[in-house]
Amino acid sequence: MDSILISQANALTTSVDNVVTNLANVAALLMQTNDKVSWAGFYKYRPKTNDLLLGPYQGKLACNIIPNGKGVCGTAAQTKKPQLVKDVSQFPGHIACDSASQSEIVVPLLKADQVLGVLDLDSNQLNAFTAQDQKILEKIANVLVKNC
Ligand code: SME
Repeated sequence: MDSILISQANALTTSVDNVVTNLANVAALLMQTNDKVSWAGFYKYRPKTNDLLLGPYQGKLACNIIPNGKGVCGTAAQTKKPQLVKDVSQFPGHIACDSASQSEIVVPLLKADQVLGVLDLDSNQLNAFTAQDQKILEKIANVLVKNC
């Protein structure tokens, strides 16, 4: 994953003031610039129901709702910490929306320490994502929180 994605994500999310539009294009950016990515998208945190609702994404059909604290996405939301999972079969409670998925990275979208949602990338390859990818995705998450 290249750090140029950060400025591309910024450029894609500054011209229109609409969260669905902006997240849709960033999902496409992340999916189309990395051959390892099989699913790229967002879940929105809902405080009333304490869960995550499927947002804009690219890839196969996905779970509509993930309870906070469940799976990789719910763990990232609950702990407010990125989850870099080299092998999803080793992650307790991993939710397999696509049985071909083998590794995953989830980064929370945080504003003043409040979780707004998560950015989720899946791969059909083991160990697809690196600590450097995580840093880039955290910066993209900050850009999105600022612009959306
Ligand atoms: N694997 C995720 C569920 C979402 S899909 O990957 C799109 C999880 O365990 O939270």
